[in-house]
Amino acid sequence: MVHVHKFDTVIVGGGGAGLYAALEASKKCKTAVVSKLYPQRSHTGAAQGGIAAALGNLEEDHPDWHAYDTVKGGDYLTDQKAAQVLAEDAVKVVYDLEHRGLAFSRLENGKIAQRRFGGHTNNFGKGPVRRACYAADRTGHMILQTLFQQCVENNVEFFNEFFAMDIIMDGNRAKGVSCYEIRTGDVHVFYAKAIMFATGGYGRVFMVTSNALSGTGDGPALVAKAGLPIQDMEFYQFHPTGIYRMGVLITEGVRGEGGILKNRHGTPFMEEYAPTLLDLAPRDMVSRAISEELLKGNGIRGDKKINDYVHLDARHLGRKLIESRLPDICEFCETYLGIDPSEHPIPVQPTAHYAMGGIPTDIDGRVHDGKRVIEGLYAAGECACVSVHGANRLGTNSLLELVVFGRRTGKHIADYVQGVDSPSGDASGADTVISRISSLRNKKTSKPIGPILQKMKQTMMEQVGVYRTESEMEQAIQTVKSLRDEMGGVVLQDSSSNFNTEVQSYFEAENLLLVAHSIAVSAKNRQESRGAHARSDFPERNDDEWLKHSLVRMKGEIDISYSSVDVSRWEPKPRTY
Ligand code: FUM
Repeated sequence: MVHVHKFDTVIVGGGGAGLYAALEASKKCKTAVVSKLYPQRSHTGAAQGGIAAALGNLEEDHPDWHAYDTVKGGDYLTDQKAAQVLAEDAVKVVYDLEHRGLAFSRLENGKIAQRRFGGHTNNFGKGPVRRACYAADRTGHMILQTLFQQCVENNVEFFNEFFAMDIIMDGNRAKGVSCYEIRTGDVHVFYAKAIMFATGGYGRVFMVTSNALSGTGDGPALVAKAGLPIQDMEFYQFHPTGIYRMGVLITEGVRGEGGILKNRHGTPFMEEYAPTLLDLAPRDMVSRAISEELLKGNGIRGDKKINDYVHLDARHLGRKLIESRLPDICEFCETYLGIDPSEHPIPVQPTAHYAMGGIPTDIDGRVHDGKRVIEGLYAAGECACVSVHGANRLGTNSLLELVVFGRRTGKHIADYVQGVDSPSGDASGADTVISRISSLRNKKTSKPIGPILQKMKQTMMEQVGVYRTESEMEQAIQTVKSLRDEMGGVVLQDSSSNFNTEVQSYFEAENLLLVAHSIAVSAKNRQESRGAHARSDFPERNDDEWLKHSLVRMKGEIDISYSSVDVSRWEPKPRTY
């Protein structure tokens, strides 16, 4: 059965970016949020350690210092005006969230508490600064709850457990999105003046990840399937401290509170890699430092394998501090490892964590193709590339990106829709999706999805992970291509309509494979090392040839083009910490 809906704006995704946009848009227009999860379960809720804002509650701080750190942290691929917007809006959004009821942790004097996080400094790199505002280690969870309550109050309409499958375009204008309703198997077409993607990340491309199962790159994949380019896909962040083998996030807040990384000899090794900021250097550097230690045989098992681990030692912080400021970490350590972090060091390894690349947008969330804006199409949050993180994101700039650019996008949409007509459209907008689902159901051969995904994750982890080489990436491209072909032979075991999550899994796997392919192709193309893109065969940053964004089109022949980086404020310099 097909259902047709009409709104002023439809926002796909109910995490921090989608909800802030919905909140702003719903002040002026009829707003729907379509989400494959219940919004309160969005991956924003897993963000732990904090949200950056130069409030200066404990020591002097300025948005300008924050913007500089963001640019330098991004290895100068960050667009500098976007970084300034991020840092300046940070202060406004944090106070806005506070006024909407977000229960931040507090200082004795009642002000919002702040802690240290990697790469955040005072006075343009002089020394560390306490900039991360936090709600214990549940900051994302608190943001999500606060925004959801406000959206409910504003009469935002929610379509939960709806899986977006297709953007409906009319020339250069986006006019709708078709979705599969997981509960019934029905197809719904949403027509709107403005369509926004806020679908989150795609860590599930990799074997070890901190991302929820829902992080399958749906937004970038749908945009790419519509023939539009996606940007800077080669830049994928590995967070230094995921629980060994599982990848579950152990917040950088542990190091922000004084936790120290140690190798098998009990040596705090970061001094060798980042003498000033030590354990709180930016994540790309700390992840590489851990990988180097493992390759030297200094991992806890000492077998020189990249799947070994190191220790994150928080014992000296004492039980009282750990339990009050890091309660979720205590619980995770107990649940997943059976240890108490105030008595035992935590076994950690780098875990796939955050996408710097994604759908190209301007600072108001308008999607572009490198040359022109796509009418009526918006994106914000992890699925988008503003580009505010450049080649490497600083910790706590992620929650910030979601709320700053979600809010800006919602405001822009609210005004944009006042000046345009509603698009025409009927049930025929669902035709593409219906035929894709029915051809999947009518196949005769039999191949399960699981092994295909397993192979993709292993390939991406081993060949397009923290360190990369030409030959490994070429092998990864060939493997992913053949896995994409194998998807043609997959047959579903479940033929029912109600809660047929296998249909959803199939299309999520398609999205993941497209995204994996785009990462591997873009990474092989970029012949330099910058931020999170570390090539053993091209170990240096090369500003002469590669100070540019890459835009890859994945529909038909793969095509890579480039756009310039905004370096209008700070001249690119070698990065030392
Ligand atoms: O370590 C963390 O708490 C993660 C924060 C982030 O990715 O911004």
